[in-house]
Amino acid sequence: MYLKKNLTHYLVEQQRQHGVVTADVRLLLETVARACKAISHAVSKGALGGVLGSLESENVQGEVQKKLDVISNEILLEANEWGGNLAAMASEEMDTLHRIPAHFPKGKNLLLFDPLDGSSNIDVNVSIGTIFSVLQLPEEANTRDVQEADFLQPGVKQVAAGYAVYGPQTMLILTVGAGVVGFTLDKETGSWVLTHPAIRIPEETAEFAINMSNQRYWEPAIRHYIEDCLKGKEGPLGKNYNMRWIASMVADVHRIMCRGGIFMYPRDQRESVRHGKLRLMYEANPMSFLVEQAGGAAIDGEQRILEIEPNALHQRVGVILGSKNEVQRVQQYHLKHS
Ligand code: AHG
Ligand code: MN
Ligand code: MN
Ligand code: MN
Repeated sequence: MYLKKNLTHYLVEQQRQHGVVTADVRLLLETVARACKAISHAVSKGALGGVLGSLESENVQGEVQKKLDVISNEILLEANEWGGNLAAMASEEMDTLHRIPAHFPKGKNLLLFDPLDGSSNIDVNVSIGTIFSVLQLPEEANTRDVQEADFLQPGVKQVAAGYAVYGPQTMLILTVGAGVVGFTLDKETGSWVLTHPAIRIPEETAEFAINMSNQRYWEPAIRHYIEDCLKGKEGPLGKNYNMRWIASMVADVHRIMCRGGIFMYPRDQRESVRHGKLRLMYEANPMSFLVEQAGGAAIDGEQRILEIEPNALHQRVGVILGSKNEVQRVQQYHLKHS
């Protein structure tokens, strides 16, 4: 065999043999992957490509935009506009939805993305990524203009989700609802080679990821859980924990996909984080779909993230995800404190 199995091969197989992907979602995912390739290229140029640093502008979330936030957003829009598989797109970096212009055919899917995740790591050459989620356009929206409300579907409705991580290697991690697979970008041939055919998150872990500097703002449940973790083998949890915090959700989740762990960005007492920091539609839902498909779990504290009924495109949510037994343990702490 001269050619290794790649993304196209995998998607065609999923469509033909398992019927889990439709032809238009397959083509859409190929296009998203192509855009991620272009983003990876821009990211890797760094200072040589003049892509580092911030702009004057702020996004709708009130964050100062980095040049790469905007470049990545534009690459994704440009790549996906003309394919005919989409009705509209929504992004962390845009105030509202972006409808497919009238001169292109209107498709039956919706694409949501965090074009560049881990913005604070761009200028320090630490792993960053792109997160995406695919929903179907509700039937009734076929005959009218797409509205923001058409996007407000719970995460269980996603037909595909994934992320690209721009790290020592560029990888694409994908689910179409039939487990989780990983591709590594072969930069010489430009092919996404299937290198991780069945990603599973171990159910047990002794590694947590949380930004400890927010400790004084946490709710009692998280405070209590982390206190118990820090007591180590002699404490009630009976194990010595390790800690990691990269501050790029993509990179932190990718580590969990590879070796297990628990990732937490809980709600806290700060005004801006009262409902959580991470965005339900662009970050929490796609990552929760991936994590569940890999045998893990994802909650907002009490509730399964994928079942949350969204009420706004840029809604924020508490996120606790990763190794199943550890996520369930943190859920118990929340139930005890509620
Ligand atoms: P983004 O760069 O897309 O705005 O997301 C940043 C998020 C997420 O990637 C990460 O887990 C978290 O912000 C880090 O936040 P802190 O700087 O508060 O630790
Ligand atoms: Mn941001
Ligand atoms: Mn992000
Ligand atoms: Mn972002």
